[in-house]
Amino acid sequence: MKKLTSEQLRDLYLDFYHQKAHAVIDSASLIPENDPTVLFTTAGMHPLVPYLLGEKHPAGKRLTDVQICVRTGDIDEVGDASHCTFFEMLGSWSLGDYFKKDAIKWAYELLIDKLEFDKDKFAVTVFKGDETCPRDDESAEVWKSLGVPEDRIFFLDKKHNWWGPAGVTGPCGPDTEMFIELDKPKCSEDCSPACDCGKYLEIGNNVFMQYFKNADGSFSPLAQKNVDQGMGFERMLCILNGLNSVYETDLFNFAIERLEKLSGKKYGEDEKITAAMRIIADHTRTATFLIGDEKGVTPSNVDQGYVLRRLIRRAMRYCRTLEISDHALIELARLFVEKYKNAYPYIKTNEEKIVSELEKESAKFAKTIEQGLKEFDKVVSHLPEGMTVFPGKTAFRLYDTFGFPIEMTAELAKEKGFELDRAGYDKAFEEHQALSKAGAEQKFKGGLADGGELTARLHSATHLLNAALKKVLHDDNIQQKGSNITSERLRFDFNFPRPLTEEELRAVEKLVNEQIALDVPVKLEEMTVDEAKAQGAVGVFSSRYGEVVKVYTIGFSKEICGGPHAKRTGELGKFRIIKEQSSSAGVRRIKAVLE
Ligand code: ALA
Repeated sequence: MKKLTSEQLRDLYLDFYHQKAHAVIDSASLIPENDPTVLFTTAGMHPLVPYLLGEKHPAGKRLTDVQICVRTGDIDEVGDASHCTFFEMLGSWSLGDYFKKDAIKWAYELLIDKLEFDKDKFAVTVFKGDETCPRDDESAEVWKSLGVPEDRIFFLDKKHNWWGPAGVTGPCGPDTEMFIELDKPKCSEDCSPACDCGKYLEIGNNVFMQYFKNADGSFSPLAQKNVDQGMGFERMLCILNGLNSVYETDLFNFAIERLEKLSGKKYGEDEKITAAMRIIADHTRTATFLIGDEKGVTPSNVDQGYVLRRLIRRAMRYCRTLEISDHALIELARLFVEKYKNAYPYIKTNEEKIVSELEKESAKFAKTIEQGLKEFDKVVSHLPEGMTVFPGKTAFRLYDTFGFPIEMTAELAKEKGFELDRAGYDKAFEEHQALSKAGAEQKFKGGLADGGELTARLHSATHLLNAALKKVLHDDNIQQKGSNITSERLRFDFNFPRPLTEEELRAVEKLVNEQIALDVPVKLEEMTVDEAKAQGAVGVFSSRYGEVVKVYTIGFSKEICGGPHAKRTGELGKFRIIKEQSSSAGVRRIKAVLE
């Protein structure tokens, strides 16, 4: 096996495919361009979806790159030797050009001839076929012709040998995966690449993209057949250098060393300490890339911003395990910038932004954590003797009032020997939502006799207010955190870090009143949640797939909502804000009337 540095491995891969007439393209942003179904770019193929569907790529039909990706599905696994929330994928594509034969031949040449992986440790899997797609004998034949013995070719089902789509819909197909067998005992007689005991490590995957998965779950054949190859950069680097963990590679070793120095503790000696160092290093690297991205995000309470906040706060919490200040994140972020600046220059350009966002988040977190920990300890000290379950309701209160991510409460509870009642938390969460909804519905039930028309108008005004706040404050992350309407006034809670200025309040009023003056009709449509999302509607998105929801368009606002509303904005009269105040940590409250 070739011992290579991370820089050399990137270059070698790109050079190899460049020599096979592939154009080298830049990594795309971590924030997907046109896919509302996922938060992050999760694979090399993701930014290329339009081209996999037949659009012409300006660089041609053969492409190669190193794509930065974020996957947070496995966040709880981070801390072990191999899981990371950020990774790079070595990728190459045929857009309707070559297919299985060349793709497999070149993958073999790269892995065995160029990178010198041991032939005798090499194994592959191919799709065994089912009702949607036949058995992939063609791929198996190519592997055989290259010298891979039959007993190292495993036919597996769709669970293992099918890839994609990256989001809910999109291109996908059967794949053939490449593995390196490690020098350790098999977990059982029939240990194979199908099990995840760690005996076989997947290092590459060729997807033969020939289907499109539709929203209803069916598959349509693609007009153009593509190859989508992805190889795990970190994992490959690790195996090539004979290391046991990605944290020992040159992508991380300097960060671990810094944490050792800061804490005076040793990596590898104690499981808890080792895991904490890995978590801090991994999450800081991901945060560095998310903030420093060309389409950088900042910590917030929704979508990408929430994931980022969760990562930063989780890393900061683990600084406590190492008994170091969370300033460590800033030191590590600067080190990661240096490490990656040649491959991703914008990281360097955005260095100060990265540092200042981490500083801001640290200050915010310190405040909530202090209050929340007090509360947490109080709760724990009041729990009856012998109780081992941490109440879900309390966990919800910590979330609702102190902004404690539920994962953090679960970890804190675990550290103190409690198991979190997650079901209870979920229930409290749902009850809370149902309560606000029921409350709102109750208000409307009164009908005309109870000022129903007035509340309907105030309700429409609430939608306009929600949209106007985003515009005036230039913050698309603003979300409704609560709403309460009586026949006299509306009350609207939303996430925002500071009080609004007088000028901003007047600007919001002005915008709402402009929409009222236009006297536009209130439009009601029914559509699926996905359609609503695609149209940019805000509101509570049910996770139930395919569910039909009501979407109200009121002037510049579009929201998923149950109604009822005014018929036209002209009915609303004049909108006036009577109060702006704090509601809870990071949440503001506005009270307004229609006159
Ligand atoms: N898109 C394929 C993967 O992520 C190559 O494994």
